[in-house]
Amino acid sequence: MVQGSDKQIAIISGATGGLGRAFAFACAEEGMPLFLTGRSEEKLAALRAELAQKFPGLPTDARACDLTDAAARAALFAYIRGKEYRVARLCNVAGADIQKAFEKYTQEKLVFQCRVNFEAAVSLAKFVLDNRAEELEIVTIASISGVYPMPYFALYSASKRALTQFFFALREEWRGRGVRITTIEPGGIYTRPDVVRNIEGQGLWGKISAKSPEYVAKKSLAAVRRNKRLLRPGFWNKFIAAVPRILPLSVRMRFIARRWSKIEKDAF
Ligand SMILES: NC(=O)c1ccc[n+]([C@@H]2O[C@H](COP(=O)([O-])OP(=O)(O)OC[C@H]3O[C@@H](n4cnc5c(N)ncnc54)[C@H](OP(=O)(O)O)[C@@H]3O)[C@@H](O)[C@H]2O)c1
Repeated sequence: MVQGSDKQIAIISGATGGLGRAFAFACAEEGMPLFLTGRSEEKLAALRAELAQKFPGLPTDARACDLTDAAARAALFAYIRGKEYRVARLCNVAGADIQKAFEKYTQEKLVFQCRVNFEAAVSLAKFVLDNRAEELEIVTIASISGVYPMPYFALYSASKRALTQFFFALREEWRGRGVRITTIEPGGIYTRPDVVRNIEGQGLWGKISAKSPEYVAKKSLAAVRRNKRLLRPGFWNKFIAAVPRILPLSVRMRFIARRWSKIEKDAF
């Protein structure tokens, strides 16, 4: 466990969302001073108030930031540097799960999704490496959706695959230098109501592989503590990632296309 002074913080991106919130509570349970970020000032303030009630005396700081905006990220980094924090943990959780046929994207939407899912995580990683405590943990939420190319979820799937590739490589660059880097590939997580509906709509497979945000957050932190390269939380996610590989890619693609063409969702 990484613990230290009030100046040694855990940064949680996407803290205002379902999984980010679970990471905030899990880090707070370890007594780690928190730095929360998301886009919504109001949601950040509400989360800080809840945390203060449950963990009185635990230092928490927060700042809203649109992580797709390089200037806003620079301002966030300047704020953190100004406070002289050192980063002991980064939980890269922020993400957007737009799901639709690629032909239905606008240029604006596709840039947004690439930026929030990949560029933001990489930029945060660079910042925390440059401003790290003696030991640093980086946990990144990729997705089981990145294991196979996913028609009708293609950009999301590819952006999550990029995260896994990048953080695997980064981990090797930092091996033996006090930095533990773990990538998480969760299946469905019961967070927003529309996500819950999607999981339920996928029938048995959706339900048996889905997990609560608290489960994913706790298992992720345990994995980075043990310096695991990759975690796919839950037996069925490991199964889904491994077993269908025995089928030809063309068969897998057609199966995924049939199922995923039925769901469409947007994000802003
Ligand atoms: N839920 C699932 O089934 C599932 C499965 C596998 C992987 N994941 C991944 O887990 C992560 C969290 O998912 P979730 O279900 O908790 O989603 P969520 O509730 O929608 O939370 C998304 C978080 O990302 C933040 N965010 C979105 N766009 C942003 C931007 N431009 N700049 C800064 N922050 C931004 C949101 O901030 P605001 O609310 O303040 O805008 C929010 O805190 C995502 O990376 C997702 O891809 C989810």
